[in-house]
Amino acid sequence: MSKFIRYEETPHTERRDRQNLKRMFPFVWEYKGRVLLALASLVGAKLATVGVPFVLKDIVDTLDVQLEEKLLFLPLGLLLAYGALRLVGNLFNELRDALFARVRYHAMRRVSMRVLKHLHQLSLSYHLERKTGGISRDLDRGTGSISTILNYLIFNIIPTIAEFTLVAVILFSKYRIEFAIAIFVTVVIYIAFTLWVTEWRMHFRHEMNAMDSAANSQSIDSLINYETVKYFTNEQHELKRYDETLKKWEEAAVKSQTSMSLLNFGQGAIISIGVTVIMIFAGQGVVAGQLTLGDLVLVNALMLQLFMPLGFLGIVYRQLKYSLADMDLMFKLLDKKSDVVDVDNAKPLVVTEGHVVFDKVSFSYQAERKILHDVSFEIPPGKKVAVVGPSGAGKSTLSRLLFRFYDVSSGRILIDGQNTQQVTQKSLRQAIGIVPQDTVLFNESILYNIQYANPSATKNDVIAAAKTAYIHDFIESLPQGYDTVVGERGLKLSGGEKQRVAIARVVLKNPRILVFDEATSSLDSHSEQAILKALQEVAQRHTVLVIAHRLSTIVDADKIIVLESGRIVESGSHAELIEAKGLYQKL
Ligand SMILES: Nc1ncnc2c1ncn2[C@@H]1O[C@H](COP(=O)(O)OP(=O)(O)O)[C@@H](O)[C@H]1O
Ligand SMILES: [Mg+2]
Repeated sequence: MSKFIRYEETPHTERRDRQNLKRMFPFVWEYKGRVLLALASLVGAKLATVGVPFVLKDIVDTLDVQLEEKLLFLPLGLLLAYGALRLVGNLFNELRDALFARVRYHAMRRVSMRVLKHLHQLSLSYHLERKTGGISRDLDRGTGSISTILNYLIFNIIPTIAEFTLVAVILFSKYRIEFAIAIFVTVVIYIAFTLWVTEWRMHFRHEMNAMDSAANSQSIDSLINYETVKYFTNEQHELKRYDETLKKWEEAAVKSQTSMSLLNFGQGAIISIGVTVIMIFAGQGVVAGQLTLGDLVLVNALMLQLFMPLGFLGIVYRQLKYSLADMDLMFKLLDKKSDVVDVDNAKPLVVTEGHVVFDKVSFSYQAERKILHDVSFEIPPGKKVAVVGPSGAGKSTLSRLLFRFYDVSSGRILIDGQNTQQVTQKSLRQAIGIVPQDTVLFNESILYNIQYANPSATKNDVIAAAKTAYIHDFIESLPQGYDTVVGERGLKLSGGEKQRVAIARVVLKNPRILVFDEATSSLDSHSEQAILKALQEVAQRHTVLVIAHRLSTIVDADKIIVLESGRIVESGSHAELIEAKGLYQKL
């Protein structure tokens, strides 16, 4: 439901985090010149920022001496240097951002590409099991996490560490050791306190976010079911449920906010105490004549400057944790292996005549339930074989195996003598065309959808294919013709129209081997006639596997196979099967 709940379900160790960061590194390192320049700018910016208090010290000291000697003049050089340092610090900061922008967005682009490519490589079984929405959310978050992590590293964590080191070194070399120790102790306490409180507070945030999305889905669900709510006059019930969730959200939100105040106050208190202690040291030094007034100002300014970026530590820590979890999910996705892979040195399939053989094929989607049992048949080149049988018999499974969306459990599928498991998936799928049971179209123009079979085809090729599929006249009758956009999944077209688009596609692809999977199942008899005519034309001179439950599609088949519960129970020509008075005749 909510992303915050998922984090607790997917624990990831610090070791994995480190591995993941290492895996991210090559994406960032593609622009190593820019990375190094950005880091150099970062150091430049920090040197300038840390330099500012020093100039300030000199200004104070000069003015202080003059004050004693009652001989005042403006230390213009120092004042200008002060301004210049601030300017340079700013400049380097912006330079760092500008240089790093390319690195960051390029890394995001490369990672997105890698993930999508991987998702396309994963087998159908993976995609059937997962919701596409969930996958795309992981993808989004995964690339987002790279951006966030880089952001915080480059703009917050590394600069703060650099500044802290610089300040510590300066204080250590120039002043009594107490200063360095006091700063160090303050920073350590500050960090420990912040992380501790943040960790504790995160729980309220999770709760708040979980309740927020729960309330959201409740309200949406009640509106989606508007009519049902009215039928049962359950408006009060819906409101009560919604309000109960909102109440929990309110509690969590209030706790989250008040604990934030606690965090802020604690941080402030630690800084105040630290700075006070250091100022006491510095004050003592001034009184004892070991330090100047400028030193006091310097130490104060350094401290306050140092603590400024630490103010975001809580947020940074929280976001980093989420981002690391997101990144972990993404890399886990990338580690997912496909069930169907090309064998080493797989050769492309060479189709000579289009001879298809199923040889004792057994198959199960899940180990416990066998779908196909020792199925053997052949489709001689240029012939048409029909498979009929009740729904759920395993007919569509045959076509999925032919396309090698799954690997057979035992047995072989041969095309022109080559085992389909030994050839490249790409060449195999290029050799077969299918008019599937349900055609799903891209939400683009009809032209685009037909052309999808062969993006280099011309519009004339497309029109010719559409004519063969008996859909050209229909397309021309639409106000926008071939440019008509078909709606999500092709919903603006009827089932028969979609199916004819699918036929036009196959015509354009023109492979040797064709599969028609119940291509006329959902049609009225008029559309069916049109499609049958189209199919017959397309099928000429092709090796065809027809899956059907209506006789009209298959009476002209060279051979008919009756499949029941994954077994071939009868086969022969239409006349032979009628003669045999078996299951076929009943169908
Ligand atoms: N991805 C899947 N995972 C598990 N079982 C499946 C899957 N796809 C289909 N099945 C099961 O396999 C059997 C055969 O399905 P299918 O080949 O689509 O039948 P049909 O003969 O109607 O085309 C059905 O019982 C179906 O429930
Ligand atoms: Mg089917």
